[in-house]
Amino acid sequence: MAEAPKRVRTRHFARAKEEGITITGLTSYDVLTAQIFDEAGIDFLLVGDSAGNTVLGYDTTLPVTIDDLIPLTRGVVRGVKRALVVADMPFGSYETGPDEALHTAFRFMKETGAHAVKLEGGVRSAEQIRRIVSAGIPVMGHVGFTPQSEHGLGGHVIQGRGTAADQLLADAKAVEQAGAFAVVLEMVPAEAAARVTAELGIPTISVGAGPHCDGQLVVWTDWAGLTSGRIPKFVKQYANLREILFDAATAFKADVESGAYPDAEHSYSDETADKAHRERE
Ligand code: KIV
Repeated sequence: MAEAPKRVRTRHFARAKEEGITITGLTSYDVLTAQIFDEAGIDFLLVGDSAGNTVLGYDTTLPVTIDDLIPLTRGVVRGVKRALVVADMPFGSYETGPDEALHTAFRFMKETGAHAVKLEGGVRSAEQIRRIVSAGIPVMGHVGFTPQSEHGLGGHVIQGRGTAADQLLADAKAVEQAGAFAVVLEMVPAEAAARVTAELGIPTISVGAGPHCDGQLVVWTDWAGLTSGRIPKFVKQYANLREILFDAATAFKADVESGAYPDAEHSYSDETADKAHRERE
């Protein structure tokens, strides 16, 4: 973002779009990664229902509940000083209508301290977004590929191709008109995303939507090489944490089995216990 605000607010998203400064976002599900990403200057952290895959071991995000996400979101909120924290509203927590959606948003805002909520869907979710925004809660929209509808969409299929770009635009506009402060475009061709970005007044946040959006968001475990198996084509890997942790665990096991760990340096004696207590006080 252009300036380095003490605390990122939704108005800084609007200003970033006006000034052509790209917004950065990562998912986070715990206090330690939240602290690191916040210190690195990442503008917003999404406590995504991707936690279903990355934390809870499900194949999809569908089983994730509000009660699963609330403690994770609390941890992330406690880890940040600057970044805006967005709480993801899980499948089955807003679709029946604006009342249910507002109730869920209240829970996230009151019980976690998150600064905004996100929900999936364009035209179909516009009334829900309008009601939440009218209660003073910032909403990030999410159109294009929406993982909570993956069965309805026939799997992980790129959205907004060819003539479907018109529907993508209509969905994004519905989200904007309902009062959202930003909208995620997931897995859509770069050309379609560029068109939406040009036509919208609010920032577009790309998750596999190419370089023309106003911001970029990635699931951190994909980006840092912690995820096992296939990662999407649009993810650039910035680290290989899986290999680093595997090597560390292997070395730890070998040291424990050989007796090399713990050595005197990593053990207390009567003498060092006193010193350790003094240092902690
Ligand atoms: O849950 C999530 O992490 C998301 C992003 C992929 C947008 O919804």
